[in-house]
Amino acid sequence: MKKIEVKTSATVFNTLSELDQEDQLLMNKAIEARAKAYAPYSKFKVGAAFLLENGTIVLGNNQENAAYPSGMCAERVGVWKVGSEFPGIKIKKIAITAASENTIVNKPVGPCGACRQTLSEYEINQKESIEIIFMGEVGEIIKTTSLLSLLPFSFDSSYL
Ligand code: THU
Repeated sequence: MKKIEVKTSATVFNTLSELDQEDQLLMNKAIEARAKAYAPYSKFKVGAAFLLENGTIVLGNNQENAAYPSGMCAERVGVWKVGSEFPGIKIKKIAITAASENTIVNKPVGPCGACRQTLSEYEINQKESIEIIFMGEVGEIIKTTSLLSLLPFSFDSSYL
């Protein structure tokens, strides 16, 4: 028997102005995407902005449905837009932000487990890490250097 330790690390910023210009711009795009989310049931709007290696920015936001499980998270709406419109083009970084009509979201909102799994497929295929930058509506911003750092012991095609 042996014990192993899985460590992850992230950088925490206090304000948007501490981010470099590219990250700030991308987060501002995520905020734009957030405003257009369709979240009449949860009132929790999420926006995601994907910066591709060719400079293109692709936006996604959550799209809810009266049949709740038929709705979809912002990150998966976004990454599937990338996968369908720009197959083979690498994703450099993703900015994510969330805001609620019920409360002020003041802590960073990371991608849910299902979104992490979905995004991991793209990071693995492109053989280059994707930076993930996430925040609430206000407060601290977290930046990680890869998706897989958010998903230890993940499942991938090597098991199939
Ligand atoms: N949501 C996202 O869009 N991304 C996440 O990573 C977490 C949750 C959405 C799904 C649903 O529309 C709302 O937020 C509340 O869960």
